[in-house]
Amino acid sequence: MKTIKALILVLAVACVCIGGCGNNDSATTGDTGQAEKYVIGMSQCNLGEPWRVQMNKDIETAAAKHPELEIIYKDAQNDTTMQQNQVNEFINLGVDLIIISPKEALPLTAPVGRAMDAGIPVIVLDRKIKGDKYTCFIGGDNVKIGEEAGKYMVKLLNGKGKIVELKGLMTSTPAIERHEGFMKGIEGSEIEIIFDADCHWLEPDAQSEMASALSRFPNAGDIDAVYAHNDPSAHGAYSAARLKGREKEIKFIGIDALPHEGVRYVRDGMLTATFEYPTGGAKGIEVALQILNGESVEKNITLGTRVFTADNVESGGEAL
Ligand code: FRU
Repeated sequence: MKTIKALILVLAVACVCIGGCGNNDSATTGDTGQAEKYVIGMSQCNLGEPWRVQMNKDIETAAAKHPELEIIYKDAQNDTTMQQNQVNEFINLGVDLIIISPKEALPLTAPVGRAMDAGIPVIVLDRKIKGDKYTCFIGGDNVKIGEEAGKYMVKLLNGKGKIVELKGLMTSTPAIERHEGFMKGIEGSEIEIIFDADCHWLEPDAQSEMASALSRFPNAGDIDAVYAHNDPSAHGAYSAARLKGREKEIKFIGIDALPHEGVRYVRDGMLTATFEYPTGGAKGIEVALQILNGESVEKNITLGTRVFTADNVESGGEAL
């Protein structure tokens, strides 16, 4: 059954690709269709950010050890409607399992629900949907990460200071939770958020919002630190400050800690700290295999975090 289904799907995907795959690269079959194959549809909300490229790489690396897996990758290019359509397409194709890293919570809830109704298990990675109609959610604990960042900020500024908060897309759950956790972390201190903005997780948006903050607060000492919800935003803020010659008077904190991104920024002295946000890609494949093999899995799987600072960056950060 599975083999026939896999073959039909591979043909269907080939047709879709002939019709113009764009950035969507589907895996090749790699065999004659004799082995049993499971087809997984993976919808990534965008591949314009390094962290998401890394997630796909982590999935690819983990899946490469399992020739029985066939993965159809789709990039929603940060477009909610496109991502809704991708889930619908996967349902129509009759894939064996869907992995989705949704752009926004609410608009992707119904499509995931429809997949579940069609009997297709769904693994949600990193950003949540609303409610609990999914098979398994895998992601970091964004409230905890935010709280740790807040506590770190309190220590860094000796309990008192004026800061800028550059938020991620506030219709996505990590941004809401990173803010909520941070407020908990700074509770009771004299840290004041004097400027905040939704930067949609994007470096150019963060850079221009930070430029606004710098002109609204133009003097040295007006801004003590920036809490950015991800490293690209922290880096954008740093770049805006550098353009004004103010990068030395402000501390920058970010989240993600990719080795070639946030961790490097810490090593280079641009960021004071970054908190790791694991992609969950490898875990996603591990759980997908369990589901496909009929094993029961935990509904929610929380991944750990580490903090990287100048003091510990060379020794691999510190687990929190
Ligand atoms: C990438 C990203 C990461 C962030 C995550 C939150 O799209 O913005 O930088 O940690 O999404 O979902």
